Amino acid sequence: MQYFVQAFACRNPYPDKYDMLMDIATEELGHLEIVGATIQMLLSGINGELKDAADRADFARMFGSKGNREEFIHEATLNPQFGVLTGGGPRLTDSNGVPWQGSYVNANGDLTVDLRSDIAAESRAKIVYEYLMQFTEDPYVLETLNFLMTREVAHFQQFEAALDTIRPNFPPGVLQSDPRYSNLYYNMSEGEDSRGPWNEGKSVGFNETWQYVDDPKRQVDRTNGLLDTEPTGTDRTLASVEKADKQLGKKRSAEIDSATPLEDIQWSRYAEMAEEIG
Ligand SMILES: [Fe+2]
Repeated sequence: MQYFVQAFACRNPYPDKYDMLMDIATEELGHLEIVGATIQMLLSGINGELKDAADRADFARMFGSKGNREEFIHEATLNPQFGVLTGGGPRLTDSNGVPWQGSYVNANGDLTVDLRSDIAAESRAKIVYEYLMQFTEDPYVLETLNFLMTREVAHFQQFEAALDTIRPNFPPGVLQSDPRYSNLYYNMSEGEDSRGPWNEGKSVGFNETWQYVDDPKRQVDRTNGLLDTEPTGTDRTLASVEKADKQLGKKRSAEIDSATPLEDIQWSRYAEMAEEIG
């Protein structure tokens, strides 16, 4: 659903990514079919037994082995609503019964942001499948989960490659951020202070030198509450950033405008195709 929603906003500026997002969104619907079919096959028989309402059938009987029966009773005790509300079919809820909701969809019309959300979503999905695989020994379920996990890894790489084709893609959006504060690291704790590429050496985005502020309180006192801070460890200045903001704003806007016709906007090519056919 997220990829469908994102696709609409990028249809005109990035038709190639529209195609990719729609392709992957459609594939994900296929994954819903796989998950739904798996649930249905695992719970095969429950619905028929529930329909035997006149007999008040003990439908736990159909699970054959004692182990299966006990497992189902355990599940039904934990989440009786699942059996009662679905009759054994899939539901659009999480395992706690919380309904799926639109707020799960992240789409904000800047493709570099949307693609980063998608990379995060694929990462989460991958690790959920990895965890799920530890909850079953059924070889067919394992095969299914492994396939779904593998496709998330494929999508992860596709989104990463798509992000790489948009240049520049850091920082997201247009405004370049204030060089007085972009490379400061505040040491807010006492005791063991860890150092690493997140607070020493060069930053990966702007290639600025990280400024480690060992005593943030003293720095605030010394700089009039940060207002008197000067850019340090960076080639960027307030003036150069202002210039870059304006240049990139014009460039991005022109890219999108040139990709988006001002009039006769058509979503489909049906009219054109009809003319071609005659
Ligand atoms: Fe995926």
